[in-house]
Amino acid sequence: MLAMHSTTNANNLNLQLESSLQELPMWEVQIELQCPGGELIKLFEQEPLLPGIIVTRNQCFVGMISRQKFFEHMSRPYSFGLFSRRPLKSLYNFLKPDFLMLPGEFPIVEATKKALQRSFNLVYEPILVATSSGKYGLVDFHQLLLAYSQIYALTLTKLQLVEEQSKIAKAGFRDLQHNYTRLLQNEKMAALGQLVAGIAHEINNPVNFIAGNIVHSIDYTESLLELISLYQQHYPKPVQEIQAKISEIDLNYVTADFPNLLASMKYGCDRIEEIVKSLRNFSRLDEADKKIVDIHEGMDSTLLILRSRFKEEINGKRITLVKEYGNIPLIECYPGLLNQVFMNIVANAIDALVENFPSSSLKCNLPQNNPTICIRTELTNDQYVKICIADNGIGIAEDIQKHLFDPFFTTKPVGKGTGLGLSISYQIVVEKHRGQLNCLSTLGKGTEFIITIPVTAPNFQ
Ligand SMILES: Nc1ncnc2c1ncn2[C@@H]1O[C@H](COP(=O)(O)OP(=O)(O)OP(=O)(O)O)[C@@H](O)[C@H]1O
Ligand SMILES: [Mg+2]
Repeated sequence: MLAMHSTTNANNLNLQLESSLQELPMWEVQIELQCPGGELIKLFEQEPLLPGIIVTRNQCFVGMISRQKFFEHMSRPYSFGLFSRRPLKSLYNFLKPDFLMLPGEFPIVEATKKALQRSFNLVYEPILVATSSGKYGLVDFHQLLLAYSQIYALTLTKLQLVEEQSKIAKAGFRDLQHNYTRLLQNEKMAALGQLVAGIAHEINNPVNFIAGNIVHSIDYTESLLELISLYQQHYPKPVQEIQAKISEIDLNYVTADFPNLLASMKYGCDRIEEIVKSLRNFSRLDEADKKIVDIHEGMDSTLLILRSRFKEEINGKRITLVKEYGNIPLIECYPGLLNQVFMNIVANAIDALVENFPSSSLKCNLPQNNPTICIRTELTNDQYVKICIADNGIGIAEDIQKHLFDPFFTTKPVGKGTGLGLSISYQIVVEKHRGQLNCLSTLGKGTEFIITIPVTAPNFQ
């Protein structure tokens, strides 16, 4: 009879997630089948924590009798008298004890699952462990549960750690994406700004020649026409050659039309000057800092740049632009950046109308069935300015609305949209101006973007 035991508690072990049964305290008390049953009683009495005994025949493993099953049986009438003096073999044959045997390398977590899957009357039985060195041991079920709970706590801690790490990684990725968008935005802005400023500069010089001289042309023409009229007054009957020339050039018509012609040239010139001013206003390269400006001016410059797009025909109709400018004060902002926002949102609205305006609704000639963009501004009570840009295009599905401001999100064909317009606009409005950018949309009806920015931002970036 070999009696070895362990009183180590599983709580004091340094277990890992993948720890196996052989790391647990094990009882290796053995008894030979020919020993009288009474010996077993003695052993159990000597060691009150002993969960069971390994039964051997000629030192070879036979099975196991648990403390619980043994005493359960012995407490029955006559059992003690019957089995205490006889060899253990008769008790063992009578009990035919069922046991769960697992290899020593079996993971504790898996072993616990297996132990718990046993039938209700066996669930508290010790687990037989066969070690790689050919020995057998018993693990107390209670100790197994303790070890399992220790590993469970360890798993939770590790999970928390992983979760925190993944949160950090995610935040890092967001920052990276954010910085990348910002970089692109700056580049896009700078490139567009430079292009626009370059064109404006190139047009500006020749237009200045024309605009500067046209005023004098009008003066000179007036003087010359006055002179001709004086001649006609004082020399009503000129020589034949002059008379022929007068009728050839249709002097009366030229005299009447020339001032009109010059006036329309002046108008055209003023218009070009206005466009150049708008282009400069839009690029605002010279004004990288915040300024106090009239938002309506910026919006008008943007609309002027997009003028050619407003001329696109949609099922034979042109886009109607409705401006409902409210009485708003001057705003402290980055004007060039805000113009960029207006440009992105209005261009998206035009795209939504051009590509998707439902032709069926155009069968009716009611004005509300025209493709329309409405721009409304107002001052809120808490000193914010609201700029609403609405279109009656196809609208945006709900699941798409969630992604509108994500960088690189686009529903447009490859090469058409970069998917940066709204994410850049969001950064400009929310981060740069401490404002808000919201979208309301109903699929099939239309979309409205609402830009809200403070009249004076306390915390400019
Ligand atoms: N007024 C609108 N009506 C319908 N869909 C819209 C509207 N505005 C934006 N969207 C949707 O939001 C998406 C993202 O817009 P965003 O301006 O960020 O990118 P984009 O227009 O696709 O590309 P770009 O970077 O060239 O502007 C668009 O692809 C479109 O699906
Ligand atoms: Mg866009």
